[in-house]
Amino acid sequence: MARSMLALSAAYVLGLLALVQSQTSTTTSPGAVFTIPASADEGQPLIPNIIDPQAVDPQSVCPGYTASNVVETANGITADLTLAGSACNVYGNDIEDLTLTVEYQDVDRLHVEIQPRYIGQENSTWFILPEEILPKPGIDTDGCASKSDLYFTWSNDPTFSFTVTRNSTGDVLFSTEGTKLVYEDQFIEFKTGLPEDYNLYGLGEVMHGLRLGNNLTRTLFAADVGDNLDANIYGHHPVYYDTRYFEADNAGQLTYATNTNDTSKTYKSYTHGVFQRNAHSQEILLEAPGITWRALGGEIDLYFFQGPTQDAVTKSYQNSIIGLPAFQQWWTFGYHQCRWGYNNWTELQEVVDNFAKFEIPLETIWNDIDYMNQYRDFDNDAIRYPYDEGAEFLERLHANNQHYVPIVDSAIYSPNPETEQGQYPIYDRGVEQDAFLLNPDGSLYVGAVWPGYTVFPDWIGSIFNGTGANKWWASEFTTWYEKVKFDGIWIDMSEVSSFCVGSCGSANLTLNPAHPPFLLPGEPGNLVTTYPEGFNLTNGTEVTTTSTSTVAEATTTSSSTSTSYLRTTPTPGVRNINYPPYTINNFQGVDLAVHAVSPNATHHGGTLEYDFHNVYGHQILNATYHALLEVFPGKRPFIIGRSQFAGSGKWAGHWGGDNNSLWAYMFFSIPQALSYSLFGFPMFGVDTCGFGGNTDMELCARWMQLSAFFPFYRNHNVLSALPQEPYRWSAVADASKVAMKIRYALLPYLYTTFYLSHSTGSTTLRALAWDFPDEPWLAAADRQFLLGDAILVTPCLVQGADTVDGVFPGVGSGTIWYDWYNQTAVTGVAAGQNVTIAAPLGHIPVYVKGGKVVPLQEPALTTADVRKSPYSLLVALDGEGKASGGLYIDDGESLETESTWIDFEATSSSLEASPSGSFAETNALANVTVLGVQGNPATVQLNGEDVGSLFAFDAESQKLSITGLDQLTQEGAWAREWTLTWS
Ligand code: NOJ
Repeated sequence: MARSMLALSAAYVLGLLALVQSQTSTTTSPGAVFTIPASADEGQPLIPNIIDPQAVDPQSVCPGYTASNVVETANGITADLTLAGSACNVYGNDIEDLTLTVEYQDVDRLHVEIQPRYIGQENSTWFILPEEILPKPGIDTDGCASKSDLYFTWSNDPTFSFTVTRNSTGDVLFSTEGTKLVYEDQFIEFKTGLPEDYNLYGLGEVMHGLRLGNNLTRTLFAADVGDNLDANIYGHHPVYYDTRYFEADNAGQLTYATNTNDTSKTYKSYTHGVFQRNAHSQEILLEAPGITWRALGGEIDLYFFQGPTQDAVTKSYQNSIIGLPAFQQWWTFGYHQCRWGYNNWTELQEVVDNFAKFEIPLETIWNDIDYMNQYRDFDNDAIRYPYDEGAEFLERLHANNQHYVPIVDSAIYSPNPETEQGQYPIYDRGVEQDAFLLNPDGSLYVGAVWPGYTVFPDWIGSIFNGTGANKWWASEFTTWYEKVKFDGIWIDMSEVSSFCVGSCGSANLTLNPAHPPFLLPGEPGNLVTTYPEGFNLTNGTEVTTTSTSTVAEATTTSSSTSTSYLRTTPTPGVRNINYPPYTINNFQGVDLAVHAVSPNATHHGGTLEYDFHNVYGHQILNATYHALLEVFPGKRPFIIGRSQFAGSGKWAGHWGGDNNSLWAYMFFSIPQALSYSLFGFPMFGVDTCGFGGNTDMELCARWMQLSAFFPFYRNHNVLSALPQEPYRWSAVADASKVAMKIRYALLPYLYTTFYLSHSTGSTTLRALAWDFPDEPWLAAADRQFLLGDAILVTPCLVQGADTVDGVFPGVGSGTIWYDWYNQTAVTGVAAGQNVTIAAPLGHIPVYVKGGKVVPLQEPALTTADVRKSPYSLLVALDGEGKASGGLYIDDGESLETESTWIDFEATSSSLEASPSGSFAETNALANVTVLGVQGNPATVQLNGEDVGSLFAFDAESQKLSITGLDQLTQEGAWAREWTLTWS
């Protein structure tokens, strides 16, 4: 009860209740099928500590620790920490003896680890995250301490605390001084003060503005839940970036800047990062004086990255700890169409045909759970999605260079032992290989998801106990691929979701198949009737056909003062994994067992889900990546996953989950995407046009244009909502075509940018503040963004608007921006000035940064056709008449491939291309456009040969257009070095 009351009141606060409710559903006709009772998914009444007035503040009762036996090591120190008084056992069992290890691991990375001193001790109740889940980084012992800009100090006054300072500025980055360290088996707390009005980013996954602000509790617990604002959702990324702005006086002395909007001043920023290598459920309280970091287990394993730029921190974080992101195939950057509710192959074919008819690019058609036989993985519905018809469909699709990505869910149907024995061999094969999670008594853990009662692959047993989940998973993919020629895989429900508390199906398997304990969208009682904000203004005629008003209204709910809440107290020597004494503010019902596999589910080998909950999604992506390597040897696996952990980006991309067809969610897609850049997931996109609720023409037109600039570009829709493929409205079709033309022309640029993310850790989607780090007024800018280092996107995010306000970063220090469409420089804009830009429906403002050379190809309906087209170069000269850029090319699909890199250098009168590498490119170079050319060139030469009349100059816009170069570059645009000159 309490669970739903809390969830409901939070939803009301967001004004989104109807939408949230409409997100959790499916189409099996209920008929005679047993419906799991809703009560099966209700947990204990619990009250989250952060809102519990009776919750004890650990700082007031715990003794802290004292350091002793401090030893200097080659690259840091070690020390013993001992409890400085009687155990407080506030939310767990205090751990008496700890070890502190401080290592300057690399010039830019400091490691501070506090572990239980007797790790392997018998009967210990603490848990240390194994390196198999996330390896610890290597150490460069070459005098890092003396080279590092970070400086570690500690104190025993009055109890142990530590401080990390930046040498070059004397700025304290992190300090636990004046607070107590609390270290228990189920509860760890440390606090650090932070400067006034601090700028912190990260700590995901959360729907929030990019800058987290100083009044927010970030709960980290992977949950199957709609994209609720400020709440925990699917991913677990305990990392933050801290950016500080300083003013310098004439003597170069830096002062922390609090008024950061004075554009007449000169600022300098420093960014550092802090990663807590801990997979347990966590709560980070961001408050005015600083942050309080709490974890329900694991250890303190902190990594400080000195930066001093965001770029340096992101690169270091990925290169040293979580791994570089997976490279993706060329085709994956095309447009993806999806929905829940494509009923059969014929419907899929109709959608594919419609895209062709309307001449809208379609690269990939996706299937949600509709294709499955009663929602069972690796098993097609024989009537709606038969294999033979599918084979023909996929052959046609592939012949047209298009692709197919089906969903695969995390749970596996457990057949009814009375009526279905042997009918779902996928399950039987899994059981034979000990592939599924267990109950503490060794029987199978049986929860519930779409098909009814289900089991769940045990990835942890597979790694640590050699049981068969990974092998079985790979072999099911290989077997299914013989029948369904998919091109990539979409992994869902991986938090891991279960629609009931505990092993609810253990005694109920004879009731299978069963209907989920809630109505699916479109079932009577749960019709999708909501529309975007301002729908009646946008679509005046359509609004009369719907009976309900647009958005759920904010309502007050009576507070449940009479409810008595369950609070547990620590038991000496024992962890309470089902009801930890500290209760996190889990949006999906506070009780950790609600709507997820319970903490007591047990892996082969005896470890518990409690300790691995937040890496379930990580391990299914790992398993799927390796499965796809078996299906497609040598090719880059394409996987989009829902739940993820620090480092999952090396296997998969992520989509933003169940957002809503609301303008607010279109905005939130930008900070969500930018945060995923910080987490090492450049392959990110959201459900374009919105998932929950019905979309409308205006929102969908705007959103199709916005998402065209996200690396992963997919439109997805909830079951039974009005169709939202871009051809459904002519305005949306037109808007999509405009933006897709730009995207497809930019594919070589996008692919190159993404390659750099994969190979160096640089970001693909960027916040303005990252590329313009000394402009503090950009610290919270998240309504505009950069795609790579050259393209600025300023989308219109407001219903009914036909202009948008945006800044042009860098103009104060001479950056020039050229309008993508009319190719002229933006003039007369001051630093930080909000400029009103025309943005009629169908137009998304896009600008090119002066100083960049952007490689382009011809837009087409598929990425394969783009790949075959001649190249062009857009040279945007900066104020000094210079520009540079690069282009990466390879076979577009292999993990190991020959490649060529081309460097471009431009001056005010020349452009030089210098290729190096062995990938042979046959496409010619067609056009070169140079923006910002002074004077009036009379001749243009390629390698000293006059190109004759192949050029034109527009003196007013200072644009030099050279066309028809393909006649002169038949051997391939990058077959040799070349220089183009104009004078
Ligand atoms: C939840 C996913 O987040 C959503 O995208 C999908 O449509 C439904 N599950 C049904 O599979």
